[in-house]
Amino acid sequence: MSSPIQPNITPPWLEAIPRVHLGHWPTPLEPLPRLTKELSGPKLWVKRDDCSGLATGGNKTRKLEFLLADAINQGADTIVTYGAVQSNHARQTAAACAKLGLECHLLLSQRVDWDHPSYRENGNVLFNKLFGAKVHLLELDEFEQRQAEILAGLHAKNKQVYQIPSGGSNALGALGYVLCLAELEFQTKAMNISLDQIIHASASAATQAGLIFGAAALNSNVEILGINVFHPDPTTLTTRIENLLGKMSQHFPDSKTSADLPININHAYFGEAYGKPTTACLEAINMVAELEGLLFDPVYSGKALAALIDQINLGNFSQHENVVLIHTGGAASLSAYVDAF
Ligand SMILES: Cc1ncc(COP(=O)(O)O)c(C=O)c1O
Repeated sequence: MSSPIQPNITPPWLEAIPRVHLGHWPTPLEPLPRLTKELSGPKLWVKRDDCSGLATGGNKTRKLEFLLADAINQGADTIVTYGAVQSNHARQTAAACAKLGLECHLLLSQRVDWDHPSYRENGNVLFNKLFGAKVHLLELDEFEQRQAEILAGLHAKNKQVYQIPSGGSNALGALGYVLCLAELEFQTKAMNISLDQIIHASASAATQAGLIFGAAALNSNVEILGINVFHPDPTTLTTRIENLLGKMSQHFPDSKTSADLPININHAYFGEAYGKPTTACLEAINMVAELEGLLFDPVYSGKALAALIDQINLGNFSQHENVVLIHTGGAASLSAYVDAF
């Protein structure tokens, strides 16, 4: 049941927490030489969590290793989770459930105003279908009622249901990004480079909370900047991260890590709304596809990429030698946004 974690990088308190094996670890840490040259900035690196090994990859694989181990240990046979129509979390959950033989229900809310038919048929939506997930498309205003009906229906059929919150973001899921931070510390030490700055897309908050908690637990000096792509009011994101950090320090006392940790987020790349690509995001996606042969998505990782480029151009990272962009995945949604390009 437990996956083969590398004993040399995993703190003992974390090694004791059960995981199922879903991904390919460690994900590569690769240089971005052509982008670095183009921007005349610090050395740029990409942590390839888009190559996590599960169904086109992404940041949810790390969280699901902990969450689905907990589900199985509790005797669950059915997983219910939540997201937007093109949720990457939902797609990775559907794939993981297929792999583990669990029934998977995805409650997807129509919260993004994107009209092209591909948005409702292609990308993650197509993959959910291939993985045999039961997809429930819900309007926002009927969400609570339909959710209650679906859960009641499953209980009536005697299903042992385990619910995973949107984005896999709770204290347990966030442990996935403690491990990511451990990998980064290990990889940068092995390459004899300093781990100075991390930048990544932030939404349901467990990626950022896990990284922050991991940095504190491992005595890392790295600075972590989350790019808000989801919350119209960025203080909501900060509060969510604070809450997760509080729960993590409570649930994992053996980490000896307090919840009072610095949280840095930037809201300048959010644009009009969640799920609406900005011009800078689309330009960044094109630029890095041509320069580095990498695929970023227009909802999450592309906005983080646009932020990285702008922060370098503004000189905000000039004090650093190395900047790591965590590629959290999402390219599975590119075909849903075909009309944006
Ligand atoms: C591709 C991608 N990047 C980043 C994120 C944000 O991660 P988190 O929800 O843990 O903040 C998500 C989450 O939905 C995602 O799908």
